[in-house]
Amino acid sequence: MRKPILAANWKMHKTISEAVAFADAFLPLVAGVTNAEIVLAPPFPQLASVAAALRGSRVLLAAQNVHPEKHGAYTGEVSPTMLTDVGCRYAIVGHSERRHIFGESSAFVARKAASLLAHDLLPIVCVGETLDEREADRTFAVLEDQLNGSLVEVPDARAAEVVIAYEPVWAIGTGRTATPAIAQEAHAMIRGWLQKRFGATGDAMRIQYGGSVKPDNVAELMAQPDIDGALVGGASLEAASFAAIARYQENSK
Ligand code: PGA
Repeated sequence: MRKPILAANWKMHKTISEAVAFADAFLPLVAGVTNAEIVLAPPFPQLASVAAALRGSRVLLAAQNVHPEKHGAYTGEVSPTMLTDVGCRYAIVGHSERRHIFGESSAFVARKAASLLAHDLLPIVCVGETLDEREADRTFAVLEDQLNGSLVEVPDARAAEVVIAYEPVWAIGTGRTATPAIAQEAHAMIRGWLQKRFGATGDAMRIQYGGSVKPDNVAELMAQPDIDGALVGGASLEAASFAAIARYQENSK
């Protein structure tokens, strides 16, 4: 049984006081959620304050990025040991904005994912095709390529700890959600790839959907057999909205 994982990707939003106010409003709203993992990914400067605000709750902390090295002359970068130190459990790697705006390759994403595992952090590895790629019928080829490249350094014995996020680039921040059927089709392909690569462990690995997830579409997405969670941008910035997403199971009975 795969435990659902609902993660908020705040991207470059919120000051420290806004982040703490979110946590204070959010925690009571999700206190009753015990059968799903809830994760908040604030920007780096807000991690320590959000960690303090989350202490004693079941909500977990994530970073939005990481550098693979433990320390060194990498101006502007943050290491996995720093993330553990500040209280992170997860880190997002290979988000399409990192791949497309900052030119990150799957090879670099692979180093990050492996380094996170080596430092007792859990990677959320994002993959997803652009609109051009989908329209050229290249979706599966692109996903396969990104999976091959980004997971190449994941040791078989650690694969169960890795979360995959399928985020079609055309659905991110556009209000254009993939239909549950389109999302499921891609998730099933990814599941097949994971099973081929990691054997039975592929069945235990969680695959999140991301791209315009909202309180009113999360339940039908989560009802799909291979969708195990959501990575939420815009709709995660308001406590009530992300709480409604985290509590989707109350509306799906
Ligand atoms: P969105 O972003 O929910 O605003 O579409 C999702 C993401 O980029 O993780």
